[in-house]
Amino acid sequence: MPNSDQINSYDCQSPSVIRNPDAAAMFAAAQAIVTGELVAFPTETVYGLGADASNSMAVARIFNAKGRPRFNPLILHVADLDHARRYGHFTAAAEAIASKFWPGPMTIVTLRIAAPVGEGDVAVDPISDLVTAGLPTIALRVPQHPIAQALIRTSGRPLAAPSANRSGHVSATHADHVARDLDGRVSMILDGGPTRHGIESTIIDASGETLRLLRPGAISRDAIEAVLGCTIKWGDVAGSRPSAPGQLESHYATRAAIRMDAAVIRPDEAVLAFGHVDPVAGQPFYNLSPSGNLIEAAANLFAALRFLDQPSCNTIAVMTIPNHGLGEAINDRLRRASAPRTQ
Ligand code: TXA
Ligand code: MG
Repeated sequence: MPNSDQINSYDCQSPSVIRNPDAAAMFAAAQAIVTGELVAFPTETVYGLGADASNSMAVARIFNAKGRPRFNPLILHVADLDHARRYGHFTAAAEAIASKFWPGPMTIVTLRIAAPVGEGDVAVDPISDLVTAGLPTIALRVPQHPIAQALIRTSGRPLAAPSANRSGHVSATHADHVARDLDGRVSMILDGGPTRHGIESTIIDASGETLRLLRPGAISRDAIEAVLGCTIKWGDVAGSRPSAPGQLESHYATRAAIRMDAAVIRPDEAVLAFGHVDPVAGQPFYNLSPSGNLIEAAANLFAALRFLDQPSCNTIAVMTIPNHGLGEAINDRLRRASAPRTQ
């Protein structure tokens, strides 16, 4: 685990470097990904803000850089269909869409494989729970753009990458847009010129029996229906708005109730701490960040919830977490993590 100085030195940066994607720049970009930094890169749709998806600290940095008040799930960018199959269960319909539209501006949501299988002796690191925001599904995309492909292959990492813009701003289609929006918040911007499509990928939910269109995008619904020979409904999973999957009921919810802003800990509670505090003897205890760093806290959040949600405790007491920076998203997630109680 990095110390707080290392963490802060990544996140209060000097101006971002814009580079032409020659061999030296691609090597440096891949190195940056492997060491947990953020790299903005062009895809055929819009620029992405990429991080190693198996590194929770790196993924937490994405949310910090974008200023997202919520942990919306991110798209996992992989090299090809074989690579994607390590992370998601492909139904026959998902296979059909992938073989026709990949590589390209198509994102397919599948059920997630939590413990991915490696090849031969090569182990595959699990994807951080922050990428999927605790959902049992995962959004997968094989980009066509040669720079995106090269970054995935050279780093050897699947990339979590939302559009490279501040939360609430429009997606970036030029390296300059990324620089204006995220300067100092991303280590390197690979300049691949203007992006071809200029709108985001189409997202299809293929995790259930019926295909659903979650987001219209660069590939039209007609084109997909022509390939599949069937109609595709608009997604309305579990009654929630498709644009806000962060609110889906299927998000990881704790069995234990969650008590926020706990000043005093009761004897039968598990404790979720933040900052300089001593463990409570004899009670399940997890400190999100002893040094009080909110990025580290976000990186540890899902592991903490799973650890503390033990049968012996009916309540998780959460100490006060500051509500600025990533604290807002952490507090939002905690408020919604407690499983709905039946009356
Ligand atoms: O073209 C694109 O898709 C670009 C480039 C960079 O690849 N990426 C992009 O990412 O637009 P982002 O984070 O801006 O949008 C991803 C969308 C979000 O609305 C998110 O909620 C949704 O995908 N999403 C991610 N995982 C999901 C899941 N498991 N189920 C449903 N929706 C999901
Ligand atoms: Mg976006």
